[in-house]
Amino acid sequence: MKYDFDEVIDRHNTFSMKWDCRGFHVTLGLTERFDEDTIPIHTADMDFRCAKPIQDALQKVVDHNIYGYTGTFLPGYGMCYYEAITGWFKRHHDWDIKPEEIIYINGTVEAIRQCICAFTEPGEGVMINRPIYTPFTSTILSTKRKVVNSPLINDGSGYYTVDFDDFERKAADANTKLFLLCNPHNPTGRIFTDEELRRMAEICRRHGVVIASDEIHGDLIRKESVFHPIAKVAGTKGIVSLTSLNKTFNIAGLQASNIVIQDPELFRIYRERASHITPNPFTVAATVAAYNEGQEWLDQVNEYLDGNIDFALDFFKKHMPKVKIRRPDGTYILWMDFRDTGLSPEEIHKRIYVQANVMLEGGPQFDPERGAGFERMCVPTRRSLLKEALERIAAQFTDVM
Ligand SMILES: Cc1ncc(COP(=O)(O)O)c(C=O)c1O
Repeated sequence: MKYDFDEVIDRHNTFSMKWDCRGFHVTLGLTERFDEDTIPIHTADMDFRCAKPIQDALQKVVDHNIYGYTGTFLPGYGMCYYEAITGWFKRHHDWDIKPEEIIYINGTVEAIRQCICAFTEPGEGVMINRPIYTPFTSTILSTKRKVVNSPLINDGSGYYTVDFDDFERKAADANTKLFLLCNPHNPTGRIFTDEELRRMAEICRRHGVVIASDEIHGDLIRKESVFHPIAKVAGTKGIVSLTSLNKTFNIAGLQASNIVIQDPELFRIYRERASHITPNPFTVAATVAAYNEGQEWLDQVNEYLDGNIDFALDFFKKHMPKVKIRRPDGTYILWMDFRDTGLSPEEIHKRIYVQANVMLEGGPQFDPERGAGFERMCVPTRRSLLKEALERIAAQFTDVM
């Protein structure tokens, strides 16, 4: 079936975090203006209707109309929840996973929190590569662990790489116990190469640092890019993989994530120390439907997202050439460097968030030390709205372009 991602859909008044939760955005300091006219393209949440097989599966749950405690086994269908997951990763990434290596978890940020609690003690160090998706930092801090930042190096064009000397130094610190890898990387859009992944794994193993690899964007791969899970290319020892349908199929509200632990010792530790979390009936139904029958929708979404990214990059080239953006390898995120405009971060913020009334996410959220002058935009929305957002922003910067 052909999906229409150009459809105009009003998401106001649906309890949407992206479209409705003004208090949330203001409290987090993301914006001071948020009203009916705001175009929110700050968050990784698609404004598209979901795949039909997901809708049908959820409808069956509603028709049954009983929402009791839910597990991941069905006597009549054997291991269908697990087989949907193992089948997907085999087909997509040629990655062999066994059902007994999979643990359901209610969201990827929760998976990060559980991993921090399972593999480290309060006061110990958790390594990250800034700029990085904000909850990496906030989860380390809220669990009373120490942030160990090994910053990525920007070559000036928006291409970010690992500083392996610094990485090794920080991993070698006896207090560092866990590395939270983000691949594909949010916000830079990098997909790390097999060689980079093997090097990270080798260093971490040598220093006894566990890797938890957040691969939530691993199915949102841009045209001509390839993504490999670290556990596939760098061995399974010392590695925990955090997978999810939340971004892939736009079902974040269903909290559909799965942790894969193929290292038996780490699996044992995780099971001993982490909370046991069960899914809800919608999540299980959506997971099975999406992984078994969602391919057609995802192919079309990825093609549309490539089109949005082409559109946005062309637009910036024509109308805002001083803003530097590298085409992402994965994700639907643009990490934009406004520093060549010569404007202060406060002025950039005022022009975008207040005058244009477009909501993005400011660089310091991702990197308090080096993020000033950067903005993050997420483009999974209808092209007409993206165009309007870009035109509103460009109109505020004509004097400096
Ligand atoms: C890298 C990364 N991890 C985790 C999340 C959130 O995942 P979840 O909704 O599964 O908690 C996001 C959302 O943007 C993300 O970009």
